[in-house]
Amino acid sequence: MNHNLPSAKDMLVFGNRSMASMVWHGLTHDACRQVAGFVVNKAYATTGQHEGLPLYAFEDLADIFPDNRPELIIPVGSVHINGIRRSLCEQARALGFSLGSYVSRKASYFPDTPMGEHCLVFEHAVIQSFARLGSNVVLRSGANIGHHNVIEDHCFIATGVVTGGNVSIGEQSFIGLGAIIRDGVTIAPRSLIGAGAVVLRDTEPDGVYVGNPARKIAKTSLEATSDAS
Ligand SMILES: CC(C)(COP(=O)(O)OP(=O)(O)OC[C@H]1O[C@@H](n2cnc3c(N)ncnc32)[C@H](O)[C@@H]1OP(=O)(O)O)[C@@H](O)C(=O)NCCC(=O)NCCS
Repeated sequence: MNHNLPSAKDMLVFGNRSMASMVWHGLTHDACRQVAGFVVNKAYATTGQHEGLPLYAFEDLADIFPDNRPELIIPVGSVHINGIRRSLCEQARALGFSLGSYVSRKASYFPDTPMGEHCLVFEHAVIQSFARLGSNVVLRSGANIGHHNVIEDHCFIATGVVTGGNVSIGEQSFIGLGAIIRDGVTIAPRSLIGAGAVVLRDTEPDGVYVGNPARKIAKTSLEATSDAS
């Protein structure tokens, strides 16, 4: 038995860029979880380590950890309108890995807040009464989710977003830095709301919205996030 291999209580963090480092930092210093290493696709696993920990190839994980598998957490941003993170989660489950969450102890939410698996909730995020998060939702620092909101699966809510009450955010949507969503608005699936936008009306699927009041621009959300990270 190799005692150096991570155990099921440990976590592996996907990525070797800034968001992976942030989640490793939070897990270690805030959530008191043991991070055993990082994971990237084989083509990017050239350095062998990140933040002083081993860097494993995703494609090799099932062989490296035949049993007693650590939990995986996949802090990938909005690239392909959150579709890459969604796909990686599906691949990880298919390989037999369970997905963990990171919920900062400095976030503010009620103990009965419904929250799906694989959610990343950063410091000073606020989730008001009766709001609920689906699975694979990222809620960055200081975002304020209004009461009775429904945040569907695979959404990314950036730092400083504010939503009024009874807002609904469709799956895979991205809400940019400091955007404001008026109470009662429905954000359609895969919408992209630009930084600082003020959204007063419901959006259309795959639309990109900018400005105050928010207007729809020509490109689709997939086009606008084809090289996002
Ligand atoms: C909306 C966004 C994705 C558009 O980026 P893009 O596809 O590169 O679009 P462009 O820069 O070509 O801009 C297209 C038009 O929208 C305008 N625009 C783009 N972003 C805007 C914004 N946030 N607010 C107001 N107008 C904006 C541009 O001025 C341009 O207008 P024009 O055609 O009249 O000249 C991007 O600007 C944005 O806001 N991204 C979110 C950033 C963020 O929140 N990051 C957090 C990471 S955690």
